[in-house]
Amino acid sequence: MKILFCASEMTPFAKTGGLADVAAALPKYLAKAGHEVMVVIPRYYTIDRNELDFALGNLGVPMGPLGTLWAGAYHTRHEGVDVYFIDYEEYFGRNGFYSDENGFAYPDNDRRFIFFSRAALELARALDFRPDIVHANDWHTAPQPIWLNTLLRHDPFFERTASIFTIHNLQHQGIFDKSALAYLELGEEHFNPFELEALGALNLLKGAVYHADKITTVSPTYAKEIQTPEFGFGLQDHIRAHAYKLTGILNGVDYDEWNPAHDPYLPANYDRGAMEGKAICKRELQREMGLEERDDLPLIGFVGRFAEQKGIELIAGAMPRMLHLSAQWVFLGSGEKWAEGFFSDLAGRYGQVAAYIGYSNPLSHRIEAGADLFLMPSLFEPCGLNQIYSLRYGTLPIVRAVGGLDDTIENYDPATGRGNGFKFHDPTKEALEGTVSWAVDTWLHNKEAIARMQDYAMSLRFSWERSAKEYEKVYEAALECKR
Ligand code: ADP
Ligand code: GLC
Repeated sequence: MKILFCASEMTPFAKTGGLADVAAALPKYLAKAGHEVMVVIPRYYTIDRNELDFALGNLGVPMGPLGTLWAGAYHTRHEGVDVYFIDYEEYFGRNGFYSDENGFAYPDNDRRFIFFSRAALELARALDFRPDIVHANDWHTAPQPIWLNTLLRHDPFFERTASIFTIHNLQHQGIFDKSALAYLELGEEHFNPFELEALGALNLLKGAVYHADKITTVSPTYAKEIQTPEFGFGLQDHIRAHAYKLTGILNGVDYDEWNPAHDPYLPANYDRGAMEGKAICKRELQREMGLEERDDLPLIGFVGRFAEQKGIELIAGAMPRMLHLSAQWVFLGSGEKWAEGFFSDLAGRYGQVAAYIGYSNPLSHRIEAGADLFLMPSLFEPCGLNQIYSLRYGTLPIVRAVGGLDDTIENYDPATGRGNGFKFHDPTKEALEGTVSWAVDTWLHNKEAIARMQDYAMSLRFSWERSAKEYEKVYEAALECKR
């Protein structure tokens, strides 16, 4: 199949979260399975043009009242996949991807991503890459399935193209003023509560759910959750109405990147059955982060965006009591300013806490390896990758039982000794604290159980080969819809 895969980020070129990892890995494994895959992302300011090949300079992108805007495109070949970058200084020549330094969303995000979505389709046309499948991800590329079923439905180039829309995070829907309809080049008739309108505004994700041939999300449990008021962010009824075409496919892990046996960022490598290196990783992490070198205390790690989604309020609420536990803590993250202040303050005041405020891929690998327990108390989690990385590194996750966290983590059962982590259900600081102290207690007093869980965790594989096969099935089914 010819697959055009579009996203707003892709590892290693541009990354703020898990979407980037998926946009790198899924196309790579689809290509390995024999498909012809073309990925398109924006050329943000931070992506150096000098490291790319020039592809073309006169890509016409129709933008309704703005007329035709002329974009450039760059190219590189990355792990068997052709990656293209849409170059347009006015929209992408700035520091942030989605928001400015203070965290405020750019006011022209509607134009930026409608433009990018259209440019990616026009690029495929210019290169004569006639896709069987357009795979769009999250609101940034939501216009694509909308157009393929409206504006471009009878376009000879795209008339056989089926569309897949993947929801990585339902919290962000691409909600804009109705006037943005004009940039989509769509008429008023599409602005109705079944398609593109929600609460008087234009909602791109809602429109994609309506128009896509198939919808997927990134875990089976999240596919069910988004049909309920607790997790539906107001779109639960709309999603339920389209659930007949929805599948939950768990993300995989790229074990070329995340493998303690040959991870280049670690001071020592280790693997199942040869765990000596993990103790070295712990000691070196303690040293790097200025913690006391203690092998008699569990080290609890956190890596992630400081966003409400990640349960940072719960952590902050439970921290005063959790500081009394016999444990050390290391936090890596950035995002909400109050949380950045909170965690660096905590690290400044308490010797058993360390924090790095910012983004560091090497440090995230060293935390996965050096920590004993990994904290991920998310309020919601479509899939979550860090807990799956943690399993491979023998670092037992402490998670809230939601979405992909619930699908990947099996709660420790003291009766049988089985499990690969610790889970709680209620989104309360009491539940979090109780579970963390249970995990700490188990680590301190039941080494045998911990070793057994580590061994089991490290034996598990969440392979992209398997997930890519499930996507293939969805693509086939989508193509059936077009026949
Ligand atoms: P989300 O996409 O919701 O942020 P995921 O668990 O799917 O959550 O993916 C997060 C990814 O981003 C992981 O690869 C994680 O290691 C990485 N990450 C998040 N914050 C940081 C950070 N501050 N430094 C390095 N990597 C980070
Ligand atoms: C989103 C979700 C996360 C998921 C990632 C990749 O950012 O928040 O749970 O793992 O997308 O699908």
